[in-house]
Amino acid sequence: MCGIVGYVGQKQTMEVLLGGLKRQEYRGYDSAGVAVITDGGSLESAKKSGKLQVLVDHLTAHPLTAGHTGIGHTRWATHGAPVDVNAHPHLADGGKLAMIHNGIIENFAEIKQEMLEAGHEFLSETDTEVGAVLLGHLVAQTGDFRTAFAQAVNRFEGAFTVLAIHQDSPDLILAARHNSPLVIGFGDGENFLGSDVAAFVEYTHHAAAVGQDQMVAITPEGVTVTDFAGKAVEVERFEIEWDASASDKGGWPSFMAKEITENPDAVANTVRGRVTETAVDIPELATLGADTIKNTQRIILIACGTASYAGQVAAYAIEQWARIPVEVQLSHEFRYRDPVITPQTLVVSISQSGETMDTLMAVRYAMEKGAKTVSICNTQGATIPRESDAIVYTHAGPEVAVASTKAFVAQITALYLLGLQFAQVRGTLSEKEIARNISELQSLPGKIEQVLLVGPEIRQLAKWMTESPAVLFLGRHVGFPIALEGALKLKELAYIHAEGFAAGELKHGPIALIDHGQPVFVVVPSPRGSAEIHSKVVSNIQEIRARGARVIAIAEQGDVAVLPYADEVIRIPLADPFFEPILAVVPLQIFAMELADAKGLDVDQPRNLAKSVTVE
Ligand code: G6P
Repeated sequence: MCGIVGYVGQKQTMEVLLGGLKRQEYRGYDSAGVAVITDGGSLESAKKSGKLQVLVDHLTAHPLTAGHTGIGHTRWATHGAPVDVNAHPHLADGGKLAMIHNGIIENFAEIKQEMLEAGHEFLSETDTEVGAVLLGHLVAQTGDFRTAFAQAVNRFEGAFTVLAIHQDSPDLILAARHNSPLVIGFGDGENFLGSDVAAFVEYTHHAAAVGQDQMVAITPEGVTVTDFAGKAVEVERFEIEWDASASDKGGWPSFMAKEITENPDAVANTVRGRVTETAVDIPELATLGADTIKNTQRIILIACGTASYAGQVAAYAIEQWARIPVEVQLSHEFRYRDPVITPQTLVVSISQSGETMDTLMAVRYAMEKGAKTVSICNTQGATIPRESDAIVYTHAGPEVAVASTKAFVAQITALYLLGLQFAQVRGTLSEKEIARNISELQSLPGKIEQVLLVGPEIRQLAKWMTESPAVLFLGRHVGFPIALEGALKLKELAYIHAEGFAAGELKHGPIALIDHGQPVFVVVPSPRGSAEIHSKVVSNIQEIRARGARVIAIAEQGDVAVLPYADEVIRIPLADPFFEPILAVVPLQIFAMELADAKGLDVDQPRNLAKSVTVE
């Protein structure tokens, strides 16, 4: 939540800042702002509510004076409405100092009271301005920006990444992080800061993640990192694996359209290098310790949103393959229910961003209670993987559209690999069965390509449904979480009331919702899997059809049993039942995108959402 960028160097600072904000706009897009120390030595800033483009247009009409030190921010409001005055940067020390912030300074009320008593005034309702005013107050008191910054940061409680510049220290940006993300980009005669590497990937691939409770000072010549007491610390450097072009639209009308077409690559790249024909080897699991896989008695998958549905799909497969009880918990529920955790409990977090605060807190909680942790994550150097015992990165590439698509299929893929490795080590699947599942995984990218061909058909369907007040989704077994995900995508993108149900629950309540013309998507399981489940779902279709539902079935090629009862059938290629969800979700992703598009909505940046939810 909130994207941050900082730059010191000889480039056009405004270009670097606005480019960095553009690439991080998915983190928040209700207001944006920048501040620079001009070549004349004064601090100038601009900020605007609305999408980044509003700020860009404003700066085109009223450019700031050129400078070589600057910070920029894109906001997702927590304290105070998204209006100009609440946007960042916030100024203090008579306009000589600017601060931007991601997170929540929880003790802002107490600091504000002190600052009011000291005679300071406030323009906004934000916690950030309180931080800026405190910093300004301390600069005036100590006469030294660095000393004041360290003192201010030590006062803040809650979650924060803060960046600050002061016109009396023209080539310097100071930053600190506690429970919010911050990465450094290393250049030649220039350096960068960002909430994630997208902020500066256009200019450098050399990066480092700043650790918990660390402060950073960047100048054109160097970077120093210390703890909050000022003691120097080493940072973990890494190379960014993708290019700036990977986070461009590349000719597609939206990031979402592009990312849905990248589903096949997301699966292929996540599998690559981790399998042979007959065995799975995720080298990254080695850090769990040799006996963990054998000794694990229970697996808890924790995640939020779409990632939790990936967990729900995978729970069926991992439990069946590895014969370990697997449960899925929403991260924010897990932590507050006093779960039973033993050293034989493995907690696997699933997070595209690796920064979701609820999931991070749940991981920390699990570790405190003695569990081993694995992070399934799509973002190099993010906080959750860095704090976990083992990391299995999904290689979906940068996902920019706020609603997750390709990361979802990559998450299921990574979890399946993990499940197969557990089954292999524990001897619960034969080599032949492992080989068959590997081959299924490897055939998925080609099959997804085939599913993508249904795009125009679905667009037509979506156009007919723009007036539907509600859409329902039904599924059974691994199709159930796909129904939930289909409904979530539609809520997020098209703002249509949507619900996903386990088809078996239909007669226990949801069938009362069925009225004439009610659209219902049904994820139909393969008749080649459990014939019983297949025929039960076909019966469910008959039951809702008899009550007037308009049925859109997602069924495998050749399944003719659904034909007499479905109004529309979307075909997916044949796959083993566990692998069908990865195919069945794709038409639902396309449907939500097309329906939102037909309603004229912004599919990449839906209202009220942010991609990376870094506050609880
Ligand atoms: C937000 C996003 C969702 C995402 C969820 C979890 O709610 O809007 O698309 O599924 O966070 O994000 P994570 O980064 O932890 O996968």
